[in-house]
Amino acid sequence: MEQVDVAVIGAGAAGMMCAIEAAKRGRSVVVLDHASAPGEKIRISGGGRCNFTNLNAAPRNYISQNPSFCISALRRYTQHDFVALVERYGIAYHEKTLGQLFCDGSSRQVVDLLVNEMKLYGAALRLNTVVEETVRDAEGFRLRLSQGSLHCRSLVVASGGKSIPKMGATGFGYDLARQFGIGITETRPALVPFTLELHLLERLKPLAGVSVDSIAACGKMQFSEAMLFTHRGLSGPAILQISSYWREEEEISIAMLPGVDLFEELRRARAQNGRQALQTVLANFLPKRLAQLIVETEKIAGNLADLSDKVLRNIADAVNRWRFKPAGSEGYRTAEVTLGGVDTKDLDSRTMEAKSVPGLYFIGEVVDVTGWLGGYNFQWAWSSGWCAGQAV
Ligand code: FDA
Repeated sequence: MEQVDVAVIGAGAAGMMCAIEAAKRGRSVVVLDHASAPGEKIRISGGGRCNFTNLNAAPRNYISQNPSFCISALRRYTQHDFVALVERYGIAYHEKTLGQLFCDGSSRQVVDLLVNEMKLYGAALRLNTVVEETVRDAEGFRLRLSQGSLHCRSLVVASGGKSIPKMGATGFGYDLARQFGIGITETRPALVPFTLELHLLERLKPLAGVSVDSIAACGKMQFSEAMLFTHRGLSGPAILQISSYWREEEEISIAMLPGVDLFEELRRARAQNGRQALQTVLANFLPKRLAQLIVETEKIAGNLADLSDKVLRNIADAVNRWRFKPAGSEGYRTAEVTLGGVDTKDLDSRTMEAKSVPGLYFIGEVVDVTGWLGGYNFQWAWSSGWCAGQAV
């Protein structure tokens, strides 16, 4: 049976980073993946430009049942460390907004960087390979593969979450954790568009494609970013961000003109020129189609001069305190990440090793650490992968 020091399951961001670091330390490493290419999620990420990290990445940007778990890894391998690696490869990048770093060219450059580093340090990559069975023995783990079998001292699970099953996402990592008695917290789609009740969807359909600056809030959490009306519901960064904090039956509150006291603006407009139509004034602040829909929905006729303070207040609230209950989310089909996963209670936060199963490690998205939108999830993959790479 083939013998290696380290087998990594999953040639994604976390798995490749771990493999590079372990190989640098002289470990013999094999990365196994059932897909036919490595780093497929990196390739499609960030609209093809890979938002590979965030300059502001910090523990507060992550959701986990134990919010402190990510502190150690994020400190040990920071966003600046990854940026240094990107710069070493001469990959041009830019900050788009809010600290989000994207490649100027293509996300393939990041995949190539990782594959090249693996080659450089001698980590092997085996694609189209399915792990059919995993058995622990006194020396480590025996893996029965679709082609042959393998024995490793350390086994690293980097198989990602359940999002985008079309791209080969599976529940493999969770099943493996369960096999070894390791806990799994509830998993659910996150960074995902909302769907709407039919009556609301029908009403909003004419807005498909319209984007507005917004503040989207759920409970105490809020995000100030763009929101996009789609033909299925609502999307855009503000919605994706708040979706990670939303639970069924909860209300979402949206301000579509953040920072503007619309009631005062409308009163001022009425005082200055009462003969203007409400829709005309609203269209100074909002996309035309949205202004029109608000006026139609509120069933308002006449000029500004005909509208009472109460009516203006209602309009302002419809714009800046719009509340609705999402029907649901688009689910794993389009979710960027999976919330929840391998319970951090069962892992060592410095090494990602399972406390009760020496030699078994979980890294990246499969772990119950989920970042905000904006490069935070890749940073978690790099940081957790790097930490395991120092320990295997
Ligand atoms: P990842 O999913 O990358 O890799 C897991 C690997 O394991 C895959 O190669 C898979 O084939 C393999 N695998 C799964 N099951 C297996 C099995 N049973 N046997 C063998 N192999 C198996 N994040 C971010 O920070 N910036 C961004 O710009 C984006 N953009 C983005 C766009 C889209 C469309 C999506 C879906 C997601 C993002 N993300 C993102 C999130 C980011 O892609 C995600 O958090 C990381 O890829 C997670 O890295 P991992 O290595 O943990 O898993």
